[in-house]
Formats: sequence, C-alpha cells, structure tokens
Amino acid sequence: MAAMLQGRRILLVIAGGIAAYKCLDLLRRLRERGATTRCILTKGGAQFVTPLSVATLSRDKVYQDLFSLTDESEIGHIRLARECDLVVVAPATADLLAKMAHGLADDLASTVLLATDRPILVAPAMNFVMWESNATQENLTALRQRGVHVVGPDAGELAEGESGVGRMSEPLAIVGAIESLFASGPLKGKRALVTSGPTYEPVDPVRFIGNRSSGKQGHAIATALALLGADTTLVTGPTRLADPRGVTVTHIESADEMLAACRAALPVDIAVCAAAVADWKPRDRRNQKIKKNGSLPALELVENPDILATLSAKGSSRPSLVIGFAAETENVVSNATAKRHKKGCDWIVANDVSAAAGTFGGDANTVHLIDEGGTETWPRLPKDDVARRLAQRIADRFTRS
Ligand code: PMT
Repeated sequence: MAAMLQGRRILLVIAGGIAAYKCLDLLRRLRERGATTRCILTKGGAQFVTPLSVATLSRDKVYQDLFSLTDESEIGHIRLARECDLVVVAPATADLLAKMAHGLADDLASTVLLATDRPILVAPAMNFVMWESNATQENLTALRQRGVHVVGPDAGELAEGESGVGRMSEPLAIVGAIESLFASGPLKGKRALVTSGPTYEPVDPVRFIGNRSSGKQGHAIATALALLGADTTLVTGPTRLADPRGVTVTHIESADEMLAACRAALPVDIAVCAAAVADWKPRDRRNQKIKKNGSLPALELVENPDILATLSAKGSSRPSLVIGFAAETENVVSNATAKRHKKGCDWIVANDVSAAAGTFGGDANTVHLIDEGGTETWPRLPKDDVARRLAQRIADRFTRS
C-alpha cells in the first residue's frame, strides 16, 4: 500500500449518524496510508460506534468531553484543534454543519471546529429531505465560502429505507478527497501575497476615513491561490469575513500598516493587490475626540503610500508577477490600462465600481484582465469564480515560464 499520507496528522470528528460505522474502515484506510489519526467522538457518534473500537483503530485515546479535567490538563481543546494537518468530519450531520456555519461551540467537536486554523473536510450524511432543505444548503454555501472542503454525499438507499442524496461517501472516496487535498497543486513552492478589504485612516480615536470594500474578492483570491498550493499570506483591512483556511492572515487597519505588513511578507513570487486602499489620510491623527464647537473642523489630507506601486518598483524583492486591481466608475478599460502603466504592475484586473454594478460588497463581479498582450473581458461571475479563474491564470503563467 503506497504511503500517500505518510506523516499526515488527521483529526477525525465522528458525529452521530448511522454512517459512523464507516469511520472504523476509514481509520484503517488512513493508517494503511501512513497517516496518524486522532479522534473526537460526539455524544451522538458514541450511540453508533464504541469509544473502544475507535481507540483501537486510531491507536490513540478518544476525545469526547469538552470539560474533561484529564484531557484539558493533558492537551486542551485548542492544542487538539491545532495539532493536526487536516480536520475531517465524517459523518457530518445536518446539526453539526449548522453549528459550524453559525459558530456554535457547545461541545468538544463544535468547539474544536471553531478553534481550528487547519483545513477542514466534511463528509455530510443525512436523510435526503434534510440534505435538500434550504437551511442545510445555505449552511453548506457559507462553509464552502469560508474554504471548508466537502466530499459527497452520494445518492443511494438511506438508512430509513428511503433513497436519495444523503449517503456518506464511501471510506475510499473520503481517502481520495484527503489525498487530493494534500497533493501538490501547480503553485506548490510559490509564495503569494494578497491584499484585501478597505483601510481605515484614523481622524481621531472614534472617527476614520474608510470605504465600502467587503474583502470578498481579495479573500476569495487568497483562498484560490492556497488551494492551488501557493504558500499564501493575506493582508487585510477590517472586514466581517472569517479568515480563509490554509492562509496566513495579518489584520491591519491603515494603509501604512498594510504597507508594513506587505513588506514583512516579502519575498514572494506573486502579489495581488485587491484591497481598496484609501488614497488619502488625515495629516494629523488627533489623540482626543474632536469636539463639536460651532465651527467645522478643517481636515487636512495627505497622500497614503501606494502599496501596489511600491511592490511593483524594480528591485531584488520585486515579486515576479504583480497584479493590481483598478476600481473605476467610467471608461473602465482605458482608465485601468493607464493605471497599469502608472503603477508598474504586470497585470491589472479592471472592475466597474459604480453603484449600479454592485461590485463593492456584492457577490459577483465583471472584470477585464489587462496585461501586456491586451484586454480580456470575462463574463459576470461569482467572486469565488473570478478568484479561481485568476488563480488558474497565475498558475498557467508559472507553468509556462
Ligand atoms: O472587497 P469587495 O467588496 O469584494 O470589492 C472588491 C473591490 C471592488 C474592492 C476590488 O475588486 C477592487 O477593485 N480592488 C481595488 C480597489 C482600489 O483601491 O482600486 P484603485 O483603482 O483605487 O487602486 C488601484 C490599485 O492600487 C489597487 O490594486 C489598489 O489595491 C492599489 N492601491 C491603491 C492606493 C494605494 N494607496 N495603494 C494601493 O496599493
């Protein structure tokens, strides 16, 4: 048996569904391939498989209780969440998926899933009506957007005698999904830096100059590059989004902080500047809240550093591919083409940010990719698809050269 997973540490969360019995075989298959396994068995899971059989096949103790004095003093749920290369949830019940989607942490499994910064693969298993319900599908969409990987479910006969989509994938299919997550992508060995979100330029302790960027586009690009194997750092301004999985994330507020974080991430092979950096900042940040005293306060602005232009400048630490975004409200392609020259980046992704286009904060984007060869207009796509397409283009550029 080829040891495809040699040295990989897998934390398997077994939740309460009849498919839990398949996990015993899954554990055996994982160990055959060289993985080390550690298991969390939920209360529901323990109704279907015994802790003894899970412990025997995983060759480790089984973790069951969030408030176990011994477990917490020995390892603690935070270490449990981090001391692995991948968390696999199989079977992933509708209940556990809902908890994950909503960030609930009321038992060991859900707490570890909230606390982990490792990639997560879920293998859903449930009745077909539960699977098709809007609630489950919306939870799945939210989890996918956060970078959670999903295998299955399959169609077939279900435990209740009904049939439909809802059977947990077979152990070998789950092993295949795990192996492909660990397989090297086309950007393996490359380092990528992505900026995302807005910057906040402080006026005084309570006020700032900011903009409407949600970070959706930039975060999706970081996720897509990481999925193709790039060692990816995301430098992000304030957003409401969860940190993408498998990506190193630095949170900043101002453009000055964003530039410092980008410099600290160098050297990289690829830089993608999707952040909406404020062009100006107040000259002086007041230490006390500006009082309303009858006259309007004068706000003197100075220019912020240009992060894209700085990264694009010739020098030994210049990434070999620098990609900017151009947010335009008119003459989108011609303005973006001029911006590409002005900033010195290799490619620029132009998008229309007029209110009618709904690009800021929206889930879809219509972009034009401009490089030295010309302009290519892509159809309107979900931002995740724009990101995947761009990441693939980047991968093609590196496999060609
Ligand atoms: O975050 P979302 O809601 O998903 O929206 C996505 C987006 C509209 C923010 C994104 O697609 C986008 O267009 N990002 C660039 C926004 C922008 O600031 O564009 P710009 O045309 O003003 O700047 C051109 C380029 O210079 C950008 O790559 C920008 O990151 C960079 N820049 C700008 C100013 C500055 N001081 N430093 C920079 O690095």
